[in-house]
Amino acid sequence: MSELHDLLKFAERPVGSGYLEKLRYYLSNGIPSTYTVEQLNNYLEGKEDDECNGSNTTPLHVLAKHLPENINDEEEKVILEMMNTLFEYGAGWNFIDAEDKTVGDHLIDRGYGIDSLFYRRLVEAGVSAELLLRKVNENIEFLEEQEDDEEEEVLEEVKPEQAVAVNSDATANEPEVFLSTELEYRENALVTKDEQDGVMMDWEDEIMKMSAKSLLKTVNNSGDGDDNESKNVLNIGFGMGIIDGYIEEYRDEDTKHYICEAHPDVLAKMKEDGWFDKKGVVVLTGRWQDELNKIIDEGGIYFDGIYYDTFSEGYEDMIELYDNIVGLLKPDGIFSFFNGLGGDRQLCYEVYKEIVSIDMKNYGMRCEYRVVPVGIKSEGNGDKGKGGIEEPNWQDIKRSYYNIPYYYHPEIQFM
Ligand SMILES: C[S@@+](CC[C@H](N)C(=O)[O-])C[C@H]1O[C@@H](n2cnc3c(N)ncnc32)[C@H](O)[C@@H]1O
Repeated sequence: MSELHDLLKFAERPVGSGYLEKLRYYLSNGIPSTYTVEQLNNYLEGKEDDECNGSNTTPLHVLAKHLPENINDEEEKVILEMMNTLFEYGAGWNFIDAEDKTVGDHLIDRGYGIDSLFYRRLVEAGVSAELLLRKVNENIEFLEEQEDDEEEEVLEEVKPEQAVAVNSDATANEPEVFLSTELEYRENALVTKDEQDGVMMDWEDEIMKMSAKSLLKTVNNSGDGDDNESKNVLNIGFGMGIIDGYIEEYRDEDTKHYICEAHPDVLAKMKEDGWFDKKGVVVLTGRWQDELNKIIDEGGIYFDGIYYDTFSEGYEDMIELYDNIVGLLKPDGIFSFFNGLGGDRQLCYEVYKEIVSIDMKNYGMRCEYRVVPVGIKSEGNGDKGKGGIEEPNWQDIKRSYYNIPYYYHPEIQFM
């Protein structure tokens, strides 16, 4: 069975159509496109598959790791076709191998960056798989009412394509748990008291400054606009109040600053710091899921800018938020959010960048990203990056939530 893995090591040059023929031969004769090096080793050692350590070095990992040097155009075409064939036979895009790397990490190691043909093909496969998975999940409730075996069949099909979780911890993944978890303000961070999970950290300062400017871009430029229309911006998720501090600094006194916050410890801090008494500030004390609906139901308030940065919510929550955004944003308003989607794995980050654009397009909105470098790693405390965002400092924080050397700052507007 190791012929498949051996083939993908490209021992012979040039890489011609013979490679593709052999690959098709192996796959069409039953070698799974997801057959991992770990499964092979277990087989050779007579072990059960569940005895491996959880890593999955797939054929695509082998291919990416062994990409030959200086390939010519013909070879590039053949290799791309080999990737297509592996995907056609169900290869997954997001497995993590024994070196804790995705296929994308190996491509980058071999000199094929995020704009290369091979990397883009991988991202494309990730986007299709995630959108398909969402469709299947949408139908699960319906399927539950049907026969059990039918449901199992569908779930099996999507297993290899499941997304790498954005977070892996209960407090970080379950909103109800998070909202009843005690929080602690440190000098440079807001963390969960027991787990020391970073909820907000001050390395995001530059991101928040940039985001505050985005929210106020159209209000501050609308001097000669319709004077009867109220000017409003909304920030969802107060945290350390960094973005709210910048909004206060940049807004003019005619612009109302709404803040929606649900956590009792954060609300207590906001009270203590006088946010409830600030002129022009309106605090919506509750979950955005409830508070925004109230505004929509009451009608009459529309926003020039809306920012979203909560904790423990996933992309499915953002999809729910999009419905509110289209009902609350003015025609030339700007929606933005803290873009940490997939921020612990570069490949996932690239995939989610595309998914957001596709989803927003479905709402008649265009998402534009500004690329900002994240600081070069330094000793000790956070370092100001080269004209970009500070290097995250994870000291005393349980788990880093952003590991990408750049940040895609989103600005979303109606087309
Ligand atoms: C990452 S922090 C926001 C940081 C903020 N952007 C800043 O500049 O400091 C996330 C905040 O969202 C709040 N939050 C979480 N879920 C929420 C929800 N459903 N509705 C409103 N606020 C929520 C959390 O309590 C927390 O204060």
